[in-house]
This record gives sequence, C-alpha cells and structure tokens, in this order.
Amino acid sequence: MGNVIETKGLNVGYGPIHVIYDLDFEAPEGEVTVIVGPNGVGKTTLLKAIMGLVTVYSGQVLFQGKDITRVPPYERTKMGIGYMPQVGNIFSRLTVEENLKMAAYTIKDQKMIEDKLELCFTLFPVLKGFLKRPAGTLSGGERQMLAESMVLMRDPKVMLVDEPTAGLMPKLVNDVLRKLKEMADTTGLPIVLVEQRARRALEVGDVAYMMRGGRFTFKGTAQELLNHPQLTEMYLGAVEARELRHVKE
Ligand SMILES: Nc1ncnc2c1ncn2[C@@H]1O[C@H](COP(=O)(O)OP(=O)(O)OP(=O)(O)O)[C@@H](O)[C@H]1O
Ligand SMILES: [Mg+2]
Repeated sequence: MGNVIETKGLNVGYGPIHVIYDLDFEAPEGEVTVIVGPNGVGKTTLLKAIMGLVTVYSGQVLFQGKDITRVPPYERTKMGIGYMPQVGNIFSRLTVEENLKMAAYTIKDQKMIEDKLELCFTLFPVLKGFLKRPAGTLSGGERQMLAESMVLMRDPKVMLVDEPTAGLMPKLVNDVLRKLKEMADTTGLPIVLVEQRARRALEVGDVAYMMRGGRFTFKGTAQELLNHPQLTEMYLGAVEARELRHVKE
C-alpha cells in the first residue's frame, strides 16, 4: 500500500516568516501517523499546508500520489482530506444534530448521510443522547468526539487531527485517543495525528515523526520513538521551559 499523504521538500511560511523547512513526510494508507514536538515548531502549519491553508514557498504536497500543491482547500476537502483543526472545530450555538448535518452539507446521497450518522453513533454512542443539545454545552471530551464525527460525516479518505486532547483532563485524554484508535481500526481510515501528549499519542500510533524548529528530527515507528532519548528530551525541554517561565514570573 502507498502513502495517502506525502510532502516532498516542503517549505512553508506565513508571508515572510519561514516556518517549515524541506519537509519530506509520508503518511501510509491504513495507518495512524503521529507527529509530536514542543510548542511552536510547525506541527499545525504542516497540517495547514496539507489542507492548502498556508503559503507553500517550494516543494510538493501529494494526496494518493497526485500533486495537489496548487489545489484550493475546498477541493481538497471534496477529494477526501478531512481536517479537524486545533481550535474552532464545532459550532457552539448549533445543536449536535445541526453540527453533524452541517458537516455533511456537500453530500447529496441521503443514504450515505444516514450510514455515516450510524457510524458516528457506533463509535461515539454518547452523542446519540445529545442530538438536541447546543454543542457549546458538551464537555471537552464530548466536543472532540463531535468534531471528529463531523469530519467522518464527509466520508474522508484520510483524517488530519490537530491536538484532540488539548485542554482535557487526563482521564479524557485516554478516552479520546483510544476512541481515535478504535475509529482507525474499525474503518481502516488513515489518520495523521498531531499531539503534544507525545507518549499517549505514540501508544495509539503506528508511524511517528518528531518535529523541532520546522524540521523532522526523527522518523520511524511509534514504538521506536517511545524508546528514543529524543522523547525524554522533549519532555525535559518542556519542564525546563516551564521552570524558566516560573523564574521570570
Ligand atoms: N498566522 C501566523 N502568522 C505568523 N506566524 C504564525 C502564524 N501561525 C503560526 N505562526 C508561527 O509559526 C510557528 C509554528 O506555529 P504552529 O502553530 O505550526 O506550531 P505548533 O507546532 O502547532 O505549536 P502548538 O503545539 O503550540 O500548537 C510559530 O512560531 C508560530 O508563532
Ligand atoms: Mg498546533
């Protein structure tokens, strides 16, 4: 099996601010690919580049082997690249049901919509009881489940998920990541997962990347990265950064 997403020599930035350097990235079909790394290294920017939401200076983005570097974002969504952004991934004032229907607005096939709803309820049964509630009243974990369901409603060929556990209690972190794994196993959908909770994410991942300063410093299996000194360094780095902030305060 090939790669569902690939980047070749990708350079990306915001106007003159160069963020990502010469990235070669591969997300294989049917696997969970995890990208970990400290704050501000370019993880979200890479996902945005795959969606076509940032300026590509040079290099290529490929989807199922096709060059999509110049394809506009909405076309990428139609082609089957599902994206769950880090923030703003649900409509708080709409009900759960309205959110799910809204997500599927481009799908004309009613049977497909019903099938997808059924899949969401199988994966996230809790949502079924909340259909009439405004999405803004859901708990953090439930919100993430809704956001993932909204991506699933569009029948994606791959799902990019940006920090689904941000701001969640430790217990919910496990639930959300386990559910994500269950979704991958049940549907065979390839997932690209960006996470700062590196250890937890790697436990549900197959392929792993470590990102630092807009470059990959590790590529391999999730198991290898779990046992790699770079992972410990990342955690130590985060602790040091926190302590430093503490000293300054
Ligand atoms: N719209 C923007 N304009 C200018 N610079 C930006 C913009 N968005 C992000 N950046 C910068 O690009 C760099 C990478 O940001 P990015 O959001 O990709 O990091 P990240 O790895 O996802 O971090 P986090 O783990 O905190 O979400 C950061 O230095 C950030 O300040
Ligand atoms: Mg981010």
